[in-house]
Amino acid sequence: MPPIIARTRDELAEARSQVGGTLALVPTMGALHEGHRSLIRRARRSADTVAVSIFVNPLQFGPDEDFDRYPRTLDADLDICADEGVNLVFVPPRSVMYPDEPQVTVRSGPIGEVVEGASRPGHFDGMLTVVLKLLNLVRPDLAIFGEKDAQQLAVIRRMVADLNVPVEIVGAPTIREPDGLALSSRNRYLSADERQTALALSLALHAGSDAVTKGPDTVLAAAATVLDKAATANPPLLLDYVVLVDPATFLPVTPVYTGPAVLAVAGRVGATHLIDNVPLQFSEEP
Ligand code: PAF
Repeated sequence: MPPIIARTRDELAEARSQVGGTLALVPTMGALHEGHRSLIRRARRSADTVAVSIFVNPLQFGPDEDFDRYPRTLDADLDICADEGVNLVFVPPRSVMYPDEPQVTVRSGPIGEVVEGASRPGHFDGMLTVVLKLLNLVRPDLAIFGEKDAQQLAVIRRMVADLNVPVEIVGAPTIREPDGLALSSRNRYLSADERQTALALSLALHAGSDAVTKGPDTVLAAAATVLDKAATANPPLLLDYVVLVDPATFLPVTPVYTGPAVLAVAGRVGATHLIDNVPLQFSEEP
């Protein structure tokens, strides 16, 4: 059966009343790819009904970012949703999500002001605002987010805990191309040469992971060696950051840290902003 498509709050309420059992929401900005398919499949494994939302949220883009050129591929997205057996697709226009300029928004606090939040001020506030609105509108039992956006996932978990939002947040693993490039809707901006340079992000994470038994400083140095080389490639990688952080706070770990960590990297190739990360476990002092 093709998914029910809801565009307004009334259509969503009507569709919501027709579906029974547990409901999992996969919030997206569209331009769906294999990574989104894996989120949908993860949702399907945990709930009776799967809903996908498609909305390019203006609040989470900075003034110099790619809101206008962000890929909008609704027909292909709906085909993917149908193919994956999604039950409900919520595709609100801007006037439904933001009938007026919102006065009250969510603030991410310190966890959203570091790392990606430091290079994109306001990004996590805008993202949390739309995620909370989507959760309030769709009222899912679970919501699935990709671990590729590790800080986004951490910030959402923190909002749900701090504001007692009645939903279970589930993280789903990053899906990669065979050569290691993490899937992203923004990969379609890359030329062949830019894509080659972009591989440095996953290669750096790989080099860092290989050094995990030697401790945090060695992990960072191994990743930095790969990234330094990419900075002189043609086209070059313009590094935003490479950090090793506590997954719950996104604050840097100490050189003697033991426990879970995230090695996260971000940079620009041409006009394209790319991020990637890998979870690590430091089991003992080096
Ligand atoms: O990860 C995304 O695609 C977006 O940040 C989200 C969670 C759908 C909110 O707009």
